[in-house]
Order: sequence, then structure tokens, then C-alpha cells
Amino acid sequence: MNKIDDLRQILREHSYHWLVTGAAGFIGSNLVEALLKLNQRVTGLDNFATGYRHNLDQVREAVDAAAWSRFDFVEGDIRRLEDCARACEGVDFVLHQAALGSVPRSIANPILTNETNIGGFLNMLVAARDAKVRRFIYAASSSTYGDHPALPKVEDQIGKPLSPYAVTKYVNELYADVFARTYGMESIGLRYFNVFGPRQDPNGAYAAVIPQWIAALIRNQSLKINGDGETSRDFCYIENVVQANLLAAMAASEAANQVYNVALNDRTSLNRLHAMMVELLAPRYPHVAAHRPQYVDFRPGDVRHSQADIAKAQRLLGYAPTHRIGEGLKQALDWYVHNLV
Ligand SMILES: NC(=O)c1ccc[n+]([C@@H]2O[C@H](COP(=O)([O-])OP(=O)(O)OC[C@H]3O[C@@H](n4cnc5c(N)ncnc54)[C@H](O)[C@@H]3O)[C@@H](O)[C@H]2O)c1
Repeated sequence: MNKIDDLRQILREHSYHWLVTGAAGFIGSNLVEALLKLNQRVTGLDNFATGYRHNLDQVREAVDAAAWSRFDFVEGDIRRLEDCARACEGVDFVLHQAALGSVPRSIANPILTNETNIGGFLNMLVAARDAKVRRFIYAASSSTYGDHPALPKVEDQIGKPLSPYAVTKYVNELYADVFARTYGMESIGLRYFNVFGPRQDPNGAYAAVIPQWIAALIRNQSLKINGDGETSRDFCYIENVVQANLLAAMAASEAANQVYNVALNDRTSLNRLHAMMVELLAPRYPHVAAHRPQYVDFRPGDVRHSQADIAKAQRLLGYAPTHRIGEGLKQALDWYVHNLV
């Protein structure tokens, strides 16, 4: 058995109390579902800024009644310390996901992104410290690599941030580190690289590329590629992210107070991604076979290539991704086929 199977077994036999912030969002709702299925007690915190009640409804449908009775939800805002404190009461592990994602959103509204991603993060750290939680796991980001040219990306080699969003995610790492030094608080930052999967929002100006394209292909709408399509990313299926969070929470203390890349050490260009989606969707939607993307200008703040070195997470957390991009895409597409309205 690998590390994650052992860990799932331990969790099934021992129930902890987890706080998932951003619980109504894409990654948060998947974490809540996985934890409830492992017999854990979970509190969710969200203000529905970009998350949805229907994501939590889907979690309720996916777990049994006994599991759902172990979930409670705090509707609140991480920009309010009292909401964070209420949500942290009696909690063992915090999985902090709440934030405003999207590089373009942060360029359009840096103040709101800063208030949420830095002010809200600091409130969560203070509340978690005061509640004496065992460990604070937080969503960091590959955007922290900024303009550093090296590939694949290794955790301790970062460049200058290319967007307000990237600044906020880097400041999160600095604050977590300072809280470890000054208050002895244990934390782990997980630098996610382009996560995708069920419940990721396909709608709105700031939707991520995979759900946005799936929706456009199924609805037979035009779809834009920023630049020449050779921009590449290390697309990471949600199951791998759930695994990394569980491992990070339960890892030995030597692994704490550090950041880890979470992805595959793989690289897929936007052109290749489009071709894969067309191939998977064409049997169900014949119009997709003839679909051609529209090429537009490169987007400000975007990095050209991104690929994670995952050796550190493999070595210190026992991380072993189970889903490559093709497998993940198949599962994600299935979900969108059944859930897109
Ligand atoms: N999806 C990715 O590819 C990716 C990559 C790197 C990092 N991340 C990080 O992962 C985390 C989760 O992202 P996601 O893709 O699930 O996005 P999401 O928008 O689906 O989820 C974020 C959740 O946070 C909630 N939220 C926002 N502001 C809040 C506030 N002030 N108070 C309480 N809740 C608030 C939203 O309502 C939403 O439910 C974020 O921190 C994001 O920056 C995501």
C-alpha cells in the first residue's frame, strides 16, 4: 500500500475535526466530500463570493446521511476575524482554500484581491493560532514562480511576481513562515498548479481555461486561445490535490513549515489541451469535431510555461499523483456533460 492508502485507513478509524475554508468553491467542496467519506467531522466556511450552495448540495448527495450529519457550515467572511474565530472553534486541522483566484481578476481589482487573500489569510492565521489548531494547510500557488525561467519549477527558486494575485499568494507563504517562527505554529503551503475537475466554475469572465473550454465546446460557442497556443501548463486533477492536503495535514513535523508543489511534473500546451478535449467530446457531440479555436493576443501577467518538480512532495509527504491529465479530463468531462445547464 502507498502512503495515501495507509492514511485513508487511519482516518477511517480516527475522526478529527477539520475546517475547510472556501468550502462552497471548487477545491473546497471536493475536500469536504473526501473528508466526510473518510468519517471525518468537517466545518465549512464560505461567503459565496465565487462559490455556490449547489456545490454543497452535490456533496450532500454524494455522501450518506451519517456523513452529512458530521458537516456544519458557517456562512462568513474571512475578512472578519470573528467569523474566522467562530469557524476555528475546536478544530484540529485547517485546510484554508478561501481566496479570490484568477490573475485577470486581481489585475482588474487588486484591492479586493488583497483584502481577501492577504487580510483574510492573516485573520485565518490568527484565528487558527488562537484556537491552537494542530496544523494550518493552505492553498499557495504556482504563480509565485513569476518570471523565474527555470523548468521544472523547484520550490526554492522563485522569481518576481507577475500579477497582484501572485503577490498575495507569495505574501501568504511569508506570513505562514513568520507565524511558525514567532508563535511556533505549524503550517504547510501547497503550491497548486492549474487544478481542474468536477464543480470548477465554467461561467463568468474569470473562469479557468479547462471548464471554460469544456462549456464552450459542449454549447458550440467560440473559444479563444491567448497567444499562439504553445503556452503550456502542468494541469493537475483535483484528486491529486485532495491527496496532497490529506498527506500535508498528517505528515511528520519535519515536513511542516515548508511549501510543496502539487501537480504532475508534466506539461501540456493549450493547443494539445484543445485537441484532447475535442477528441473526448466529439463522440458525444458531433459538432465538436469541426471546432476551431480563435487565436487572440497573449494575456498580461501570464507565464509562458509552467511545470512542477514534485520530488519534494514525493519525498517528504509521500505524494504520489493517481491521475494524469488524460484520465482527469475524462472524469471532469463526464461531470460537465451531466451538470452543465
Ligand atoms: N484552481 C486552481 O487552479 C488553483 C491554482 C492555484 C491556487 N488555487 C487556490 O486554491 C484555492 C481554491 O480555489 P478554487 O479554484 O477552488 O476557487 P473557488 O473560487 O471555486 O473557491 C474559492 C472559495 O473561496 C470563497 N471565498 C472567497 N472570498 C471569501 C471570503 N472573503 N470569505 C469566505 N470565503 C471566501 C469563495 O466563495 C469560494 O467558494 C484558492 O485559494 C486559490 O487561490 C487554485
